[in-house]
Amino acid sequence: MTDFATRYGPTALIAGGSEGVGASYADLLAGRGIDLVLIARNAGRLEATAASLRSTYPKRKIDILAADLTDPATPTMLAETLADREIGLLVYNAGSNWINDDFLNTSIDHARTLTALNATTPMELAHHFGGLMRQRGRGGIIIVSSLAYLVGAPQIAVYSAAKAFSTTLGEALWFELKPHGVDVLVHALGSVDTPFIKRTFPEAYGRGAKPEDMARSGLQALGNEPLLRAEPGDAFFQHLATLKRGEAVETIYNAGKKWQD
Ligand SMILES: NC(=O)c1ccc[n+]([C@@H]2O[C@H](COP(=O)([O-])OP(=O)(O)OC[C@H]3O[C@@H](n4cnc5c(N)ncnc54)[C@H](OP(=O)(O)O)[C@@H]3O)[C@@H](O)[C@H]2O)c1
Repeated sequence: MTDFATRYGPTALIAGGSEGVGASYADLLAGRGIDLVLIARNAGRLEATAASLRSTYPKRKIDILAADLTDPATPTMLAETLADREIGLLVYNAGSNWINDDFLNTSIDHARTLTALNATTPMELAHHFGGLMRQRGRGGIIIVSSLAYLVGAPQIAVYSAAKAFSTTLGEALWFELKPHGVDVLVHALGSVDTPFIKRTFPEAYGRGAKPEDMARSGLQALGNEPLLRAEPGDAFFQHLATLKRGEAVETIYNAGKKWQD
């Protein structure tokens, strides 16, 4: 067993592991000797990703669970279903926003769903699986966030608010769990060329980072600082931090419009 697998194995749970950054984490983790449980809604895409991983890493056990992470019953279902699996690493990746519009032009159900996906479900999974890791005295949690956590972002208001929640939650957990041998990392991404972006915002696709580069840098950073901010995007957000708050909100609004052009 590699040092990495001793520390974060035997099994990683990847919420949002069928494609993009989550699938890249899956590939790298399997390569480091870790078994996987991958979660996503689309069973066909999950099975295709798992089949490809099994053929590349025949020694690894790769399981899939088709589930909706916005369903309030899902965290309990996962805790029960995985009761006999030792989850040494939780990667919470699922979370993109799919409607860009004013808060009041979108339904409250949309807001609830985004909040569940980006804030309450990662919180519940971190509580359950983080608790078991603390008992064992080892493990890791990676929460994939967005640089949009830094400023209230018009037209993606709930998304940026929910990412602020998961980011600050993760930073605090980094401190609380460190003495117990559990590493926590929040990985705040900028623009990434994922299949979701290609399907949903095709005009923005082709200008972002590669998912595999994001996953590689996340694994390198785990065990160090609580927060890793990614390029492209971080330099822009650093600049926003120097502005008056109102100016920063207006600047991110204009940047969002340009991103979709
Ligand atoms: N792409 C970017 O430019 C960008 C920028 C900043 C931050 N990020 C962050 O990076 C992460 C990944 O983003 P992404 O672009 O790859 O899109 P995504 O929609 O988060 O999809 C990633 C994975 O999550 C799964 N997923 C999505 N919603 C789910 C749900 N309700 N229940 C279960 N699984 C679900 C997807 O499979 P299914 O669709 O089959 O469920 C897929 O496997 C997110 O947290 C996002 O906020 C992305």
